[in-house]
Amino acid sequence: MTGQTMVKAEGVHKSYGAAHILRGIDLEVQNGEVFCLVGPSGSGKSTFLRCINHLERIDGGRLSVDGQLVGYRQKGDKLYELKDSEVAVQRRDIGMVFQRFNLFPHMTALANVMEAPIQVKGDSKAVARERAERLLDRVGLRDKMGNYPSQLSGGQQQRVAIARALAMEPKLMLFDEPTSALDPELVGDVLDVMRDLAESGMTMIVVTHEMGFAREVGDSLVFMDGGVVVESGNPRDVLTNPQHDRTKAFLSKVL
Ligand SMILES: Nc1ncnc2c1ncn2[C@@H]1O[C@H](COP(=O)(O)OP(=O)(O)OP(=O)(O)O)[C@@H](O)[C@H]1O
Ligand SMILES: [Mg+2]
Repeated sequence: MTGQTMVKAEGVHKSYGAAHILRGIDLEVQNGEVFCLVGPSGSGKSTFLRCINHLERIDGGRLSVDGQLVGYRQKGDKLYELKDSEVAVQRRDIGMVFQRFNLFPHMTALANVMEAPIQVKGDSKAVARERAERLLDRVGLRDKMGNYPSQLSGGQQQRVAIARALAMEPKLMLFDEPTSALDPELVGDVLDVMRDLAESGMTMIVVTHEMGFAREVGDSLVFMDGGVVVESGNPRDVLTNPQHDRTKAFLSKVL
């Protein structure tokens, strides 16, 4: 039985050496929600996504995904750190798409999407291929399955990267500025794929500067600055009627 809440952060802190980056993040992402995260460069958005995926350890607070603490198990009132193999099992339920696509350059689009299910989940080639073909079709790349990354545009590569993440059948997808490295004319196709994914009910956390996408597709929007949540709410409300000066200053630069 899964609950209503997919991600819950309570007072999450993270430092790199003396640099205190996340300073007590509190937020909740509900099942099926498109949760947009915006804020200035250096505010900790990528760091927070990396904590959700346990690519970084948090130094304080609590962070859970689908009711399970990320990286820890609780017994009574004590927390025990999970083994690497247990963390890997948690991580494979969470898909991540970065600004840079990081496809395997020596593999075709199809092979890129088939790889993790075969290597990590132990799927048969036939099962992995059937799913990969379906996903590449879904992201509009039916004709490009045999192409290598160097034979694809940036937008097409990013759509392969989304299909690759979906091939693991994640319960949560994290997007870190998925369109900001793309030429403007390629952004729309990637956003269309994300919109389609949102409509299918996927829970998504999206770090983006695409305020149009946040307004149209987002269910919630959080503005982060200096490692804390400054303001949050319905994207339409926050974007048209920001309450805090820092939010206003930021939006006046990006809108
Ligand atoms: N591995 C690391 N070691 C030390 N400092 C780091 C590390 N990763 C990030 N930082 C620092 O943490 C701060 C937050 O970085 P982060 O990448 O989370 O910001 P961001 O909000 O994603 O910014 P951007 O919009 O530019 O992507 C920055 O000051 C950055 O220099
Ligand atoms: Mg970032």
